[in-house]
This record gives sequence, C-alpha cells and structure tokens, in this order.
Amino acid sequence: MTAALDGPLVVVGGGTMGAGIALLAALHGQRATVLEGDADAADAARGRVERALARRVARGTLEAADADPVLARIAVVADHGATADPVAVIEAVPEILELKRRVLARAAAAWPGATLASNTSSIPIAEIAAGLDEPERVVGLHFFNPPTEMKLVELVVPPRALPAHVDVARRVAAALGRTVVEATDAPGFVVNRCARPYYLEALRAVEQGLADVATIDGACEEAGFPLGPFALMDLIGIDVSLAVTRSMWQRGDHEPRWRPSPLQEQRVADGQLGRKSERGFHAYGDGAPVRGRARPADRVVAAEEAADRAGAAIDASLTGRPAPAADVALARILVQLVNEARFAQAEGVATADAIDVGMTVGLNHPVGPARWSAWIGGARVDGFLDHLAGPAGDPVYRRPAPTPTTEEPR
Ligand SMILES: NC(=O)c1ccc[n+]([C@@H]2O[C@H](COP(=O)([O-])OP(=O)(O)OC[C@H]3O[C@@H](n4cnc5c(N)ncnc54)[C@H](O)[C@@H]3O)[C@@H](O)[C@H]2O)c1
Repeated sequence: MTAALDGPLVVVGGGTMGAGIALLAALHGQRATVLEGDADAADAARGRVERALARRVARGTLEAADADPVLARIAVVADHGATADPVAVIEAVPEILELKRRVLARAAAAWPGATLASNTSSIPIAEIAAGLDEPERVVGLHFFNPPTEMKLVELVVPPRALPAHVDVARRVAAALGRTVVEATDAPGFVVNRCARPYYLEALRAVEQGLADVATIDGACEEAGFPLGPFALMDLIGIDVSLAVTRSMWQRGDHEPRWRPSPLQEQRVADGQLGRKSERGFHAYGDGAPVRGRARPADRVVAAEEAADRAGAAIDASLTGRPAPAADVALARILVQLVNEARFAQAEGVATADAIDVGMTVGLNHPVGPARWSAWIGGARVDGFLDHLAGPAGDPVYRRPAPTPTTEEPR
C-alpha cells in the first residue's frame, strides 16, 4: 500500500482524464475532489466516475463491497469553497492555454501552498505557469488514458518549479501507484516525443513505396510491439495522432524529423480517421478483412530476433545487397526510435533509463531504445542513419552531435 498524502487532491475538470485521475486516487485510498465549472457539468462528471467504478465491479477487478468506500472518497463539486485544503491540484480541463491559466490562478488563490499540476499533453508548462503570480508552484503531471490502467506518469519540471513542489508531485504520483519518469518542459515531453518515429518513419516508408501498411504492421507486431504503427494510429484516431505531431512540429521550430506526413493529412481530409470512422489505414466494421496478427509468446525474445533481422537488413543495405522490405522498414523504424532517444538525451530532456521506462511502461514497447541500440549495434545504427541521410544529408536522419550528456546506449 502506498503512503497516504497529507491532504486531499483536487482535480479540476472531471472529463475523460479528470474523472479517471480522481477514481485512481480513490482506488489507492486517497481522497479526491473533482471541481467542475457548473452544477450540470458536475453531475456529468459524477456519472463518469460512477460508471467507471461500475465497469470495474462488472469486470470483477473490484469487489462490489469495496465500491461504496471508493466512491465515498470522491467528492464532485462546482464550487471552490466546498473542499478542504488540498495537497495538490491537478488541472485536467480542455487543452486551451487561457483556460488552464484561469483555473490554476483561481486554484492558487483558493488554496495557498498547494502544488499546482497540469495534465496538459502539449502546452509547455512554463507557458501555463507564466500567467500566475507564483509560477514556481506549477509542474506537469501527465497521465495517460485511461489513468486507472496506464501505469506511467510523466513528471514535467519547468526551470522555475520549486523543488518542494516537484517533491509533492512525485509523492502524489507514487501515492497513486504510478511509475514516474521525469522530463524537462520540451515538446512532447518523453513519451509522445520518443514515440514519434514509430509512426513517422513507418509513414515515410509507405510514402516512398518501400513497403505497404500491412507489411509494416506485421513486421512490428512480429517484433513484439503490441500493435503495428498503422493499426495503432487507427486505434488512437489518425486525427488525434496528427494533432500531436503538428503540435510538436510547430513547437519544435519545424524540426524536420517531426514533419507531419501527407499520408496522415490526406486520410484526415477524407474523414478516414481510423476505427472510429470504420476506415483509416485499415478497414473496420462489417465485411472488413480480419488482419492476421503475429502474437509472439515472449515479446522480448521476439524483439531480439527482430533486431537481428533488422541488423542483417542494414548490413545488406549498406553493401547494396537486397533485403526483405519488411526487415528494412523495421530497421528504419528502430534506428529512428534510437536516434530520437539520443536527441532527447543530448538535449537533456530525460535520461536513457527514463526513456526506456517511458517506452516500455508507457507504451508497452517490448524494449526501449537503449536496448534496440545495443542489439543492433551503435555503429550499425550510425551507418544506417548516414546511409538514409544520403549524400545530400537529409536532415530527417541527422544524428545529434556527441555531447557529455549523451550516454552510450547499453
Ligand atoms: N484524453 C486523453 O487521451 C488525454 C491524455 C493525456 C492528457 N490529456 C489532457 O488532459 C486534459 C483534459 O483532457 P480530457 O480528454 O479529459 O478532456 P475532456 O473534454 O474529456 O474533459 C475536460 C473537462 O473539463 C471540464 N471543464 C471545462 N471548463 C472547466 C472549468 N472552467 N472548470 C472546471 N472544469 C472545467 C469539462 O466540463 C470537462 O468535464 C487536456 O489537457 C488533454 O490534453 C488527455
């Protein structure tokens, strides 16, 4: 059992994420108050919490007798006066800078001393904090959807955050039973950033005619990834995935590696958003072909074998010999995952260990970039990146300059 916090949590906004975070807290024995904008929204938020709890009982993951005590630890209110002083406030209102500033400013005034955390996916924490009288109280606590199932939380530490507030945020995540990775306040933090090549390199391989969607998805699933990149984009929503890429690209000074793919843009323009519209990179719904999925028994063993195939495909490519398209595409995705992680480390965004935890715990990758690099071999990764960059030096495959903070991949 995790240590109790010194006071309740306030979660501002009881939507998809806020209701889930409050339920997660209550499931871990903590008290949580969901603060909504008005009484109708509070009713809707209470309904979301109750339905999520009922689903757990129906699935058998929670004893029926435990449901009432869990619910009793959650209050849903529409008024700041209705809660005891919280140890921390987590805002989970819609992704609008001014709204986030406004709700945190009100929370800061109502509860002096409380740590203020934002669950934003894409807005720099420093920009949210800049609107407040005490920006040093603000950190990022980025939960994943659904918060009760996803074990990872990114703790985003902007330069001005006071260590005492960072500590409180760390304790909150631990009290909620989450694994924490720390990141600096950079676009995409750790997970969204280091996951980009999984999608973008796969999209480039299709754009360039190297392999088709089914081949690439099959190669990745055989390598131990839970879903191939295209099937995963279909699940997340191609529009949602594109929005994350666009936001990172814009906030990241149009970094060439993060450039949105025309293939995604076309699908979104055509209303082919993935599973929710029954058509994306694959077809869904009645009559759609069932995709065969390779499900390796041991995903790490499968990953190591796939890294060998990718290594052989790299050797072949470097010496002008033919190699199976599936292996070449997988090799491209893996070296770009390694390269993005190297950039993130070189820029001080996160350590190699934190990135590996982010990718395995947060995204269920079979192993993290450091392990892929060790299996393929750092020199081979470098050689393949230089080969892909070509004589003109395509910046998409540029390598970070070695710096003292770049840890050798293990
Ligand atoms: N949905 C995801 O998969 C996901 C994952 C990680 C992070 N996030 C981030 O979490 C945040 C919330 O996302 P969501 O998907 O839960 O959104 P949502 O639209 O489901 O919920 C937002 C909630 O905020 C409430 N709200 C609006 N204005 C308010 C106000 N002034 N005071 C109090 N409550 C107010 C709304 O009534 C709603 O219940 C966003 O910043 C998003 O980027 C979302």
